[in-house]
Amino acid sequence: MSRSGFFISFEGIDGSGKSTQTRLLKDQLERMGRDVILTREPGGSPGAEEIRALVLQGDPDRWSARTEILLFTAARRDHLERTIQPALEAGKVVICDRFADSTRMYQGLSRGDLREAVDQLHSLMIGVEPDLTVLIDMDPAQGLARALSRKTVEERFEDFGEDLQTRMRAGFLALADEFANRFIVIDGSREIDAVARDITAAVQQRLN
Ligand code: ADP
Ligand code: TYD
Repeated sequence: MSRSGFFISFEGIDGSGKSTQTRLLKDQLERMGRDVILTREPGGSPGAEEIRALVLQGDPDRWSARTEILLFTAARRDHLERTIQPALEAGKVVICDRFADSTRMYQGLSRGDLREAVDQLHSLMIGVEPDLTVLIDMDPAQGLARALSRKTVEERFEDFGEDLQTRMRAGFLALADEFANRFIVIDGSREIDAVARDITAAVQQRLN
């Protein structure tokens, strides 16, 4: 894939501040004269947004973990072809709220050890990693309280509760060690502006 642009993903547990910080980073980079698109997973293209409704609404046991891996990967393939790849080819900065690391964690860890299956499908069907991944790390109880205060219909995963969030936090930190070349870890428990300043500084350094 041609990549004259720059691909940034944001990861972290639910409620850690990804949506807030991706928006602030987009505004900041645009002020610096960059051409930026902000997108998200699951979703980010019309087809992938349809899959989003399938995976995020309904009973927690609606899908098995293996079926979820297929659905998230199908959504990601469509998002990659129709949104991410064209933007990178046009030289844009792509900011994506969650990407494949979320599948490594949520489907790969939450219900049995399916990490190997996630990685195999990823290399077969996606084969792309971000240039930079911003992990917003925070206390799971705090994250869950923030996430639940939003009250949306997309609560299949939030129904899984604090125990899952705690395992996801540990898993994300382990992933940051595993892919240390592309991850930065930011303390998300602070005020919004303090978190944003750290993220902008780290991104600026990588972009230059
Ligand atoms: P995520 O996308 O990771 O789930 P959001 O950005 O949607 O997180 O944030 C979840 C909630 O917490 C929102 O209501 C948001 O306004 C609030 N929030 C985000 N960052 C902070 C922060 N640093 N301090 C306090 N509240 C925050
Ligand atoms: P998101 O809308 O980012 O939720 P939040 O803002 O609460 O962090 O993602 C919705 C849910 O989808 C989230 O609980 C994590 C889950 N998810 C997976 O399980 N696998 C994936 O591959 C992705 C991208 C998300």
